[in-house]
Amino acid sequence: MRTPLIAGNWKMNTTVSEAKELVHKILKVLDKIENVEKVICPPFVSLAAVAEILKYSSIKLGAQNMYFKDKGAYTGEVSPLMLADLCEYVIIGHSERRQYFNETDGLINKKVKAALEAGLKPILCIGEKLEENEAGKTEKVVSRQLYLALADMDRLSGTVIAYEPVWAIGSGRSATGEQANETIGFIRQKIANLYDRVTAQNLRILYGGSVTADNISEFVKQIEIDGALVGGASLQAEQFISIVRQTADIRSHLASG
Ligand code: PGA
Repeated sequence: MRTPLIAGNWKMNTTVSEAKELVHKILKVLDKIENVEKVICPPFVSLAAVAEILKYSSIKLGAQNMYFKDKGAYTGEVSPLMLADLCEYVIIGHSERRQYFNETDGLINKKVKAALEAGLKPILCIGEKLEENEAGKTEKVVSRQLYLALADMDRLSGTVIAYEPVWAIGSGRSATGEQANETIGFIRQKIANLYDRVTAQNLRILYGGSVTADNISEFVKQIEIDGALVGGASLQAEQFISIVRQTADIRSHLASG
């Protein structure tokens, strides 16, 4: 059985003091919830402060982005080496990066490789836009994104994939559990073709897009879905705790029975 993973993507929210306050709110309860990997991804400027608070806990830290070079004259960028000191995970190729910062599949491929090389686990985001979904092109789009993002990579190591339909992000309109399960099953099949069955079986694939405490159960009860990448709801302590707790409960129920 794959260990489920719930990652909170705080996006461009929280000052350093707000970030510390939010971590303190979730720390004690989340720390005790077992059988789910818990990851939070605050903004860069809060990583060091949050890392300090999480030091002896079971909650892991992720960044939301990075550049692919280790160092040099790239004003304003953050390197894999800098992150490797602080985090275990890094989100790569989020649709907001693709959309607002023109990140291409080629750049995302470089970032995924650089993350692995630095010992970070990339959370690679893929997903189709509304018009692509409506035109029945979901599978075509996600397979293209997958092939290009993973080009020339012979191992996936700790990579996690997040299937995030763009129309579901921040819209309050999530995919259904069945829809997400079907596409994630398709992604797993593609991985089996690209690599092998064992790699595909071991790979964790998350759903993301308007996940809340009210709908998380719909996703994590699905056989192919290994957890969620949570945006808005991860900024509310109660919601995020409930999402993690429900995931742990449903998963242990499935495992036992
Ligand atoms: P959302 O964001 O949960 O606010 O829809 C998810 C994401 O962008 O990762």
